[in-house]
Amino acid sequence: MKIGFIGFGNMAQAMADGLIGRQAAQPADMLACAHDWEKLQRTAGQRGMIPCRMAREVAEGSDLVIVAVKPWMVAEVVGPLADVLRGKMTLSVASGWGFDEMEALLPGAPHWSVLPNTPIAVGEGIVIAEERHSLSREQYAQVHGLLSSVALVEVLGPKQASAAGTVAGCGPAFASMFLEALGDGAVRHGLTRAAAYRLAAQMMVGTGRLYLQTGTHPGAMKDAVCSPGGTTIAGVAALERAGMRAALIDAVDAVEQRSAEVKKS
Ligand SMILES: NC(=O)c1ccc[n+]([C@@H]2O[C@H](COP(=O)([O-])OP(=O)(O)OC[C@H]3O[C@@H](n4cnc5c(N)ncnc54)[C@H](OP(=O)(O)O)[C@@H]3O)[C@@H](O)[C@H]2O)c1
Repeated sequence: MKIGFIGFGNMAQAMADGLIGRQAAQPADMLACAHDWEKLQRTAGQRGMIPCRMAREVAEGSDLVIVAVKPWMVAEVVGPLADVLRGKMTLSVASGWGFDEMEALLPGAPHWSVLPNTPIAVGEGIVIAEERHSLSREQYAQVHGLLSSVALVEVLGPKQASAAGTVAGCGPAFASMFLEALGDGAVRHGLTRAAAYRLAAQMMVGTGRLYLQTGTHPGAMKDAVCSPGGTTIAGVAALERAGMRAALIDAVDAVEQRSAEVKKS
């Protein structure tokens, strides 16, 4: 399958890196266009991908076209390609470009709107995908399979999409703060900075993977490492006193509130 990126910035590069890293796609089968040709030659070239001067070239040369320009540029850049895209699978990763918006822009094109997060670059992403799409059954299976090679694909209705986007999209910032702070604590007690971050990061990966593979309730996972009168429960009590859980719930509330304000403005 030839994969074409219209826009080759942070998200498109993260997706390309994940696909290449997981050997889900060959760089020589991936095309990209962007605004700045010199930069594109570097970013696509260094990955062994094919840089294209025009978005139309990308659309014509690809089986799957990934729309990855900024949301306010989608209509201007992708709209004029409606004739070519009628025969192509189109995947929008642009926020705000859901099923209805894409359907209006590209009538008759088989399309699907999704929102990936940046850990897709290392094959550990999350893709929040809309329930509604206009791909055929085979096309859906093909694109779902491709995305699943680099991400957990969560297909959700509109009522759940916002909170899911907060966990997947804002979560990496919250998790990075946790990682940094846990590292600070360990450095305070003599561990080197590099080792502290490395251990904290792997602990987070491992804990997440343990949950995904076993489905054990997070509370039970916490209980499993807290022995009576032990050291871990002392740390857990300190986190409770500091209000860690309430702080995280408040953080999600704040994101949702800010999203609503941004949508209104
Ligand atoms: N970053 C994230 O975490 C994230 C998460 C979920 C969804 N998204 C979505 O992904 C999309 C891209 O975001 P981003 O963060 O990757 O933005 P970005 O880094 O600014 O990338 C935008 C890309 O669009 C290119 N572009 C601009 N004008 C163009 C034109 N006329 N024709 C073709 N390409 C053009 C830019 O080229 P130049 O670099 O040459 O200017 C750049 O490669 C957005 O719609 C966003 O909502 C991003």
